[in-house]
Amino acid sequence: MTIIDDVHAREVFDSRGNPTVEVEIRCHNARSGRAIVPSGASTGKFEAVELRDGDPNRLQGKGVTRAVKNVNSEIAEVLIGKDAADQQAIDKLLLELDGTPNKSRLGANAILGTSLATAYASAEALGQSPVKRFADIWAAFLPLESKQNRNRTSLLGQSLQLPLPMVNMISGGLHAGRNLDFQDFLILPVGATSYRQALEWIVTCYHQLGKTLNQYGHEGTLTGDEGGYGPKLSGNSDAINYILEAIEKSGLEPGHDIAIGLDVASTHFYDADSQTYHLNATGDAALSSSDVIDLLEEWTDQFPIVSIEDGLAEEDWTGWQELTARLGNRVQLIGDDLFVTNAKRLQQGIENNVANSVLIKLNQIGTLTETLEALKLALEHDYWPVISARSGETEDTTIADLVVATGAGQLKVGSVSQSERLAKYNQLLRLEEQLGENAAYHGGTIFQDAKK
Ligand code: PGA
Ligand code: ZN
Repeated sequence: MTIIDDVHAREVFDSRGNPTVEVEIRCHNARSGRAIVPSGASTGKFEAVELRDGDPNRLQGKGVTRAVKNVNSEIAEVLIGKDAADQQAIDKLLLELDGTPNKSRLGANAILGTSLATAYASAEALGQSPVKRFADIWAAFLPLESKQNRNRTSLLGQSLQLPLPMVNMISGGLHAGRNLDFQDFLILPVGATSYRQALEWIVTCYHQLGKTLNQYGHEGTLTGDEGGYGPKLSGNSDAINYILEAIEKSGLEPGHDIAIGLDVASTHFYDADSQTYHLNATGDAALSSSDVIDLLEEWTDQFPIVSIEDGLAEEDWTGWQELTARLGNRVQLIGDDLFVTNAKRLQQGIENNVANSVLIKLNQIGTLTETLEALKLALEHDYWPVISARSGETEDTTIADLVVATGAGQLKVGSVSQSERLAKYNQLLRLEEQLGENAAYHGGTIFQDAKK
């Protein structure tokens, strides 16, 4: 019943108008399952390889016809006749077929599209909803063993739950092309008691922020890649101040109801040769890791910041150790470019007391199984996982179902405009309604132990 009959890929387009891979897989006598692969802009150096055609005469070299062909030929040949319900075996076959450490032969886009479409195909064949199917696939990774005292993750990973959303309000860095050094200024509705309430608060603040920016003579309409406003401001801290004002004008209390998060995405302003950081905001000055940490510490004292992502660069392990020692007991310190959803890199972080949280992006590693391995490792070692979209997204809602199915606790999808983002937020509203009492919502309480 779950034997694969047909595998087919095609080139489609993402939210930036860039080509990407869609895969459809059909099991015997069932409807096909389908998945589309997202794509990053501020990608980490250690991510699995996204295979692009590189043909300058077509779609600026960004075509994915080679990856599509790999699915339709080699991958299809191996998968037809195999059991889609055995996700781990399918993913293992894909890894073996590729044969490289970073999926550069077949392409992580070809492999992830196939891996996810397999899950959707088996869901169709078994008559299961995607969330139920992902929950069953995750169940194979349970029980979680406590490799260390689980304070942060004690509520996570064991049962269905709606996530705390972490939502981009103002975009800078490589996502908005203006003058802000930091990539995302986010809000986390830590005081909300349901997902719906959390989302309503965010939407209210988002509109209020647009008005507030306009009132101060800034652009409050143009947005960056993830739908956050992309104003030209005179400094990074201005972005936070406008957001705090918008929260207050929305009748909400900064810190208590809504906290602040940052994705510094610092790799893009790090010079690996001189091991220094270069911010627009500080002109020609070259900052050391400690200088950047000083700045982040000052901000954490001054503002209700609960989460900082990629505060330091992907290769600055010693800087990361200092950052974790200084802020790790007060703030969620997320490794994105640092860990690239790779269990080996995360293990290195765990062993060296680096970070206390990991961003989970399926296409950084390239199969569902490896993604869940990284998630399990994080939960067992008391690292908060944050399941995340990419800056180039589509209507695919996998991460919404996956975050609920795994009970990972947090989701980062970008802002509350643009349908590739709302596709996920709306899917979560449906799941909240459909699952009712069967899905918990812990919201910001997952940070309580950390604040003690
Ligand atoms: P990316 O950005 O998808 O462009 O990598 C998202 C992030 O850095 O979190
Ligand atoms: Zn990031």
